[in-house]
Amino acid sequence: MTADDPFAHLHDEAYGDAFRTPRLDVSGLIDPGGRPIEPLTGGWRLTLDPFEEGLRQRWFAYDDAPVEVWTTPRDWDPLGGEPVTVPSCWNMVRPEWRHYEGAVWYTRALDHRPDTPGERCFLRVGAANYATSVFLDGCFLGRHAGGSTPFCVELTGALRVGPNRLMLMVDNSRRAERVPMHHVDWFNYGGLYREVGLLRLPEVFVKRAGAALVPGSGRTRLAFDVELSDPVDGQVGVSVPCLELDFMLPVAAGRGRIEVDAAPELWAPDTPKLYDVLWTFGADRFRERIGFREIRVDGERILLNGRPVWLAGACVHEDDVHLGKVSTETDVRRRFRHLKELSANFARLAHYPHHEHVARIADEEGVLLWAEIPVYWAIDFADPETLADARNQLAELIARDRNRASVVVWGVGNENADTDARLAFMSALVEGTRAADPTRLVGAACLIDREHFAIADRLAAVLDVVGLNEYFGWYEPDFDGLERLLANSTPGKPVIVSETGADAVVGRRGEGRALFSEDWQAEVYRRQFALLRKASYVQGLCAWLLYDFRSERRQARLQAGYNRKGLIAADKSTKKLAFAALADLYRTVAKSADP
Ligand code: GCU
Repeated sequence: MTADDPFAHLHDEAYGDAFRTPRLDVSGLIDPGGRPIEPLTGGWRLTLDPFEEGLRQRWFAYDDAPVEVWTTPRDWDPLGGEPVTVPSCWNMVRPEWRHYEGAVWYTRALDHRPDTPGERCFLRVGAANYATSVFLDGCFLGRHAGGSTPFCVELTGALRVGPNRLMLMVDNSRRAERVPMHHVDWFNYGGLYREVGLLRLPEVFVKRAGAALVPGSGRTRLAFDVELSDPVDGQVGVSVPCLELDFMLPVAAGRGRIEVDAAPELWAPDTPKLYDVLWTFGADRFRERIGFREIRVDGERILLNGRPVWLAGACVHEDDVHLGKVSTETDVRRRFRHLKELSANFARLAHYPHHEHVARIADEEGVLLWAEIPVYWAIDFADPETLADARNQLAELIARDRNRASVVVWGVGNENADTDARLAFMSALVEGTRAADPTRLVGAACLIDREHFAIADRLAAVLDVVGLNEYFGWYEPDFDGLERLLANSTPGKPVIVSETGADAVVGRRGEGRALFSEDWQAEVYRRQFALLRKASYVQGLCAWLLYDFRSERRQARLQAGYNRKGLIAADKSTKKLAFAALADLYRTVAKSADP
């Protein structure tokens, strides 16, 4: 084939190789720190591209010429496609796109007017499922993998003053080597489903900064850290007016950390106290609202600020009948209203990093969170690329939410078979989590060890808290099994039942173990709670889950494409009998002296 062969692209199956690097990963992630983000909401046009013709034929390199001046035919033009706003999921845009899985192109004009000399301009994507390749005026700027965490890419240098064309190729294909892999129990939405915007920053700026109580300091010592965009030496101003703290933090090669004595009012569910913290470097202002609290394990107990806490909670997916995977602030605040009505103090954000405003609102509401990455079921634990992807997603989650007091557990996986490869893979994740953030607990939702019929997953040895998913009363009808399991187990550390529950269809009633009835769903929680509260090492229960959600694995007539284990129906308003039953049970926790 010669270079001028117009059909060469039909025979080049290595077309994607040119677009694998540079990788957009945690190293380029900038925390907005309260700085303005110019939203890129409107003006997008979306084109499906199941064969990735856009890469094969390099659609991104086309000019904006009208067809009247084309010298050869084209299969794409920038004014084609479906007008969409961002954030959105393409599954919800057109009925015929509901189940589309593959690549799409988001295209929009970007009119650039520099504000200040020397400013730097970054694109920030809140999340896109699953892989995103960024092109500006025909230049490939990089590719991000991971469907639930933010990433940034610098546009400075590629941006022209005046009109530019921004193109993002987003691909939500399910693949065995991805995280999650191709088999999950939730709907595979696709698209730029969280906010996309522009950050304009000075030449050298604060990339990330944080503050937290120093573990083991008796809750009277704070650590402040900062990372600048460039490896320069200097000083960063830090102030916490309500603690009368105002000092200079020395920075060497762009990084600095300092500890200071302080006695902040501690953040807790009943007293969600947040402090305004300001980092200043030249003209750059980086702001955070931070709650200071200590979470740690003591034997079989979980201590929040030195006091035992029992986690009464519910799991939540990102799923909405109208918005798909988009979570608006209204949606999230309704979630917390329901958690409060449930008398819950805890939520597990299943099975992937949720929208960043969830933890911010949890900070205000005083709800404790378990946040996790989607190392879910049969991940390709032997693939180093898969481990690199999981590590990066975890690092991006921690970098994004490390200043959120509400987040108390980083979850590194869910229901993974206890094999040697999985043990090595997830032990590496646990080690990386502790190195990145020693101020939180590390957990995983583990399976029952069937050989010993005990809570004895080998990964538990390196976890702070052991999550246990068990469905006695549903998938395993006999509650005696739960009694036997609890009696057989000596985990030696706190166990949180990270999932249990049953399906129920609103309005379906029945006696005894009437499957899919509201009555039996409520009875499952009553029996679960009675047994779990007797086990000294069980320190929490996380109902599966708050709302019914879409899952294509669920095709029986009573399911009709939904997992019906919600305490509330998919309309996010119709409560089932189990909601009130569980709320009554959780209220007994709140009242008990020793939770
Ligand atoms: C598993 C899994 C969930 C799933 C649930 C169910 O525990 O972790 O993602 O939805 O069971 O079967 O409903």
